[in-house]
Amino acid sequence: MPAHISIDRLTKHYVVGHDRVVALDNVSLSIEPGSMVAVMGPSGSGKSTLMNLLGLLDTPTSGSYRIGDAEVAGLSDAARSRERRERIGFIFQSFNLLPRKSALENVAIPLMYAGVGRTERLERSATLLRQVGLGDRMRHRPTELSGGQQQRVAIARALVNEPALILADEPTGNLDSQTGREVLAMLRQMHAAGRTIVVVTHDRAVAEVAQRIVTLVDGRIVSDELVDNTAGGPAAGHGQDALAAWGSASDERSNVPATGSGQAGDGGPAPDAGSAADASPALDASPALDA
Ligand SMILES: Nc1ncnc2c1ncn2[C@@H]1O[C@H](COP(=O)(O)OP(=O)(O)OP(=O)(O)O)[C@@H](O)[C@H]1O
Ligand SMILES: [Mg+2]
Repeated sequence: MPAHISIDRLTKHYVVGHDRVVALDNVSLSIEPGSMVAVMGPSGSGKSTLMNLLGLLDTPTSGSYRIGDAEVAGLSDAARSRERRERIGFIFQSFNLLPRKSALENVAIPLMYAGVGRTERLERSATLLRQVGLGDRMRHRPTELSGGQQQRVAIARALVNEPALILADEPTGNLDSQTGREVLAMLRQMHAAGRTIVVVTHDRAVAEVAQRIVTLVDGRIVSDELVDNTAGGPAAGHGQDALAAWGSASDERSNVPATGSGQAGDGGPAPDAGSAADASPALDASPALDA
């Protein structure tokens, strides 16, 4: 469920040989539940570093990170993995789907790590795939899907655990402009449905869907501006465009806005992750997975 996110003087240093890189320098940010923040800035400015910290894929050198009431900056690896599985959904530029798994299995992975039983896993995953317009592609492997379809699978995977926070690092970066617009439409939908979203982008069109654009330069926030997108607003007119843009999802369209929190029906909390959760740091997240 959405939670208030706040980071306070978060700093990340990398040491390479004798050099120290200050990738993130005392960054503080408060993100309201249900808001959408775009992070922009030149290459090397610390955007992905920030996302990796927000996503609990990495630990800060110093500073505080709170999700709701929980301080998560100083957690052990195991505790971070658990928090990540339960609270965070990722969408990456390169999709990061498991190549030998079907779309359905890919979406179900976070549920497996959360200890959800197979039948429920597959049902919930199928529901989400239908919502992203891929009801007829569930058995396809990633190589049998277009780029935009792969990203929609990744979006379904990011949503399946009902995360408090959705992180997208250049989600349209590898897509042509039409497909990028489709993915943008889905971000709008997630936002309209009340999700908390942080999206890194170089694309002004993506940034303008957000309510707020935070710009990083050299690891620091140099501007934090509110975007006036009230004309038609993300929850109003755009929502319809978004649905129209899903084209192939015609039979599922009516499902999309209604599901709000993203799950049809079941919605029950996942059993505690402990059991099925293994040592694997982030099957739901690790950029290294596809390597
Ligand atoms: N694992 C690492 N080890 C050492 N230095 C790193 C590491 N990861 C990132 N950096 C450095 O930290 C700085 C910020 O990198 P980061 O990946 O956050 O940039 P970015 O804003 O995401 O850039 P891009 O737009 O190119 O993706 C860069 O100077 C980079 O070289
Ligand atoms: Mg980056």
